[in-house]
Amino acid sequence: MDWSEKLRTGVPLIDEQHRGLFDCVKAFEKAATSGNILLSVHTMDLLNRYVRTHFSAEEELMRIHHFPKLTDHIAEHRKFSAKLFRLIMENVRRDNSVEMLEFLRSWLVNHICGSDMEYVPYLLATQEVT
Ligand SMILES: [Fe+2]
Repeated sequence: MDWSEKLRTGVPLIDEQHRGLFDCVKAFEKAATSGNILLSVHTMDLLNRYVRTHFSAEEELMRIHHFPKLTDHIAEHRKFSAKLFRLIMENVRRDNSVEMLEFLRSWLVNHICGSDMEYVPYLLATQEVT
């Protein structure tokens, strides 16, 4: 599954970055399917870096808007990053792209629909006040 309206948070920066994440996943899928190993490695690196940029931006926004479950949310991000790193390292030894794509898409959809949606009222409420 790719980005769709049901994943829209209404926070412009977040939605733009979430779409960017799905674009990275798609680029990786294309590279992995083509069998081009160099391109595969390159797209995994891009994805990994995009994830880091996005998580930092999201965590900063939650901090600024005093989201009460910030610590739990950061822990989820860390857990995801650790698993992504493990899968990327493993990919060097064996092609696990199918497993990785499944993990990426399902994690992103579940995380956005669940944990990310929880901070939306905080981010939007403070935006209206300021
Ligand atoms: Fe998140």
